[in-house]
Amino acid sequence: MKSNKGAAVFLSAVMFGTAVVPGFFGNVQAEAASEAVVLYSNDFEEGDTADFTGRGGVETIGVTTDKAHSGTSSMLVSGREEGWNGPQFSLSDRCEAGVEYTVSAWVCPKWYNTINLSMEYTDAGGERHYSNLSSQGGDGWMEFSDIKVSFSDDVTNVYVYIEGSDTCDIYVDDFILKKAAVHDIEDIPSLKDVYADYFKIGGAVTASELAPTTTKNLVLKHYNSITAGNELKPDSLLDYKATVATGSNTDPQVNLNNARSILSFCEKNNIPMRGHVFVWHQQTPDWFFRENYEEGGEWASKEVMLQRLENYIKNVFAALAKEYPNLEFYAYDVVNECYLDDGSARQGGANNGSQQTSPWVQIFGDNSFIEPAFEFARKYAPEGCKLYYNDYNEYIDGKTNAIYNMAMDLKEKGIIDGIGMQSHLDTGFPTVAQYEKALAKFASTGLDVQVTELDITTNDTSAAGFEKQAEIYSGILDACVKYADSISAVIFWGTTDETSWRGDRCPLLFNGDYTAKPAYYAIIDGIESTGTTTTTTTTTTDTTTTTTDTITTTDTTETTTDTTVTTTETTVTDTETTTTETETTTITTETSSSETTTTETIPTDILYGDLNLDKTVSMVDIIYLNKYIADVIKFNAEQTANADCVDDDRIDSSDSNALLKYLVNKVSSLPVAAE
Ligand code: GLA
Repeated sequence: MKSNKGAAVFLSAVMFGTAVVPGFFGNVQAEAASEAVVLYSNDFEEGDTADFTGRGGVETIGVTTDKAHSGTSSMLVSGREEGWNGPQFSLSDRCEAGVEYTVSAWVCPKWYNTINLSMEYTDAGGERHYSNLSSQGGDGWMEFSDIKVSFSDDVTNVYVYIEGSDTCDIYVDDFILKKAAVHDIEDIPSLKDVYADYFKIGGAVTASELAPTTTKNLVLKHYNSITAGNELKPDSLLDYKATVATGSNTDPQVNLNNARSILSFCEKNNIPMRGHVFVWHQQTPDWFFRENYEEGGEWASKEVMLQRLENYIKNVFAALAKEYPNLEFYAYDVVNECYLDDGSARQGGANNGSQQTSPWVQIFGDNSFIEPAFEFARKYAPEGCKLYYNDYNEYIDGKTNAIYNMAMDLKEKGIIDGIGMQSHLDTGFPTVAQYEKALAKFASTGLDVQVTELDITTNDTSAAGFEKQAEIYSGILDACVKYADSISAVIFWGTTDETSWRGDRCPLLFNGDYTAKPAYYAIIDGIESTGTTTTTTTTTTDTTTTTTDTITTTDTTETTTDTTVTTTETTVTDTETTTTETETTTITTETSSSETTTTETIPTDILYGDLNLDKTVSMVDIIYLNKYIADVIKFNAEQTANADCVDDDRIDSSDSNALLKYLVNKVSSLPVAAE
C-alpha cells in the first residue's frame, strides 16, 4: 500500500515553527526526542508509481507482478540507456532542510549489478551535486535499510535515486521514507566551557553532517571553533567554468556554493572558523595544475603556478570577506601534508592515482612552494587570522624534525604563526609520551600550536576498548593542558562516530545517537572548572526562528550574550544535584594481637551514585565510576555501596549506564533494576 501517513502532521508542525530542539534547553519551545515517523511508503501493490520519475527521461516505470519482495507486485524500471538512469523520488516536496530522514528500499537488478542509492541536490549557484548514500552488489533482492539523508536550507531539487552499474532492468519494492528519530543532546558539561581557560574546543563538520538539527545542537553546545571538513578545500571552491571564462591563464576563480551552509551557520551563531586548506596535494583538481587548465594536459610552469597560487588565495579571502563580512577566520591552514614520515618531500606526480604524489612537487621540484604560499596568505589574510602548516604523523621523529625546521625558517621570515598537529591517532599508536614529545618540540618553536583533526581509533569496540580509548584521550588532553600556553585550539575531526571518516573504528567522543562515550567523561575529568558562563545558542530549525538559551552554571555569574537573536532567555540553574543526609555508624575493631585499632566507616544509608562522597549525585560521579570500572582508581566501602546502581552486588557498566540515565532524567531514582 502507498501511504503518506504522518506527513501532514509533520509538515504542519514545521509550518507552525515547532522548534526541533532537545528538551533540556530551559524554557525553549522544544520538540522532545522522538521515534522515527513514516512519511511515505509504497509497496506498489496498488499499481501507483506516480511519485517516481526517470532520471534519464528514457526509462519506463511501471508495476509488475514478475517479481516482488513483499506481496505480489513491485516497481519495474526498464529501458535504461545508461547506468545512471533509474527512478528518482523528490525529497524537496516532502522534507524540510536541517531535519534528518531515512530511506529504505528493496532493490533487485535483473542480473548482477552494483546498485547505488544516491542523492542529488542543486546548490545556491545552480550547480547539481550527486552523492552516493549506500551501495551494494548482487543479483537478488538487496535491502537498503534506513539510509540517512538530510540537506541544508540553501539547496533545491533534492532527490534520492537508484542507479546501477549497467543498464539492466531494476525492480524496486517496499520503498519507505521516514523522518529519523530526534535525539536529545545530553545535559552534560560543555567541552568549550570546561576548557575555556586553556584553549578553544572545536570540530570539523561537513555540510551534510551539520544538516540535522541534533548535530547543530551538539556543535553549538560543545564547540567554539568550526572547520569545514571539505567545503573550503580547492576542489570545493575552484570554479572551472568561471576560471576558463576569464581568458586568463593565471587567475583561478572561486565560488563559495559548497561551503555556504557551514559559513552561514558559523556567521549566524558567532562561531569562529579555522580555514582549511589552500595548498594540498589532494582534493585539488588536476586542471588547476595544467597549462590552460586542460585536465591531463601539460604541467603549468612554476611561474604560472606562483601567479595562480597568489590569485587563488587572494580570491578566496576576498570572497569570504565580501559574502561573510561578520564571520571570523581566526586561523587558516595554508599548507597541508608536504612531508613523508622520514622528513623528505613527497614524490612529484598527478594526484589522481593511488600514489600519494604531489602536483606541487611535480611543478616546483621540491617543497619550495611552501614559502610563497605563506607569503601570499600573509598578504591577503584578514587581520587576526593566524596562518598554520598542518600535517599528520607529526609525532614521528623524521617528520617532527622536518616540520620544526621549516617552521623555524618561516618564523624567521615572519610569515607563519603556528603548527597544526592533525592528530589522527589510534589506541595502539602513538603513545601519549611520543605525542607529547612532538608537542614539546613544536611548542619550543615559540609558534602557536593547534591540534587540528583529533580522533583516536580503536579496534576493540567492547566496553574495555572504549575505556582504553578514554585513557588515551585523557592522556592527550592532559598533555595539551600541560602545554596550554602554546596551544590555542584543540579540534576534533567530526562530531559522532557514525559520521566520522574512520567511523568503523569509533574514534570520537560521541556515539551515533549523540550520547557521550567514556572518552568524553575522561577528558573533562579533573579539568578545573572555570565558573564561566555556559552559553548555548540553539538554531531551532533552518526555516524558523533562532533562539538563544543561556544557562549559567553558578548562582552568581552575570550572563550576557552578543548573539543576534529573536528570543533570549536566561536561566540560572544549579548543577543538577541530589543531597541526602547520610547517617553513618562507626565500627571500631580492637585487635589485641597487633595492638592496633582499625576504624572503618560503613554507611547505613546508601546514596546511590555518590562516588566522590560529596553527598550529591552529579556528572562528576560518572567519571569516578568509569575510572573504577576501568581499574584506574579504587573505592572504599562507602563508595562501593553507592556504586551499585542496579543493586546486583557487582560494579560494572550497567551501573554507570543506570547512573547516566538517572542524571539525564530517564529514570527517576536509583537503584534501577538490572537490564
Ligand atoms: C586529512 C586532511 C583533512 C581530511 C582528513 C580525512 O587529515 O587534512 O582535510 O581530509 O585527511 O578526512
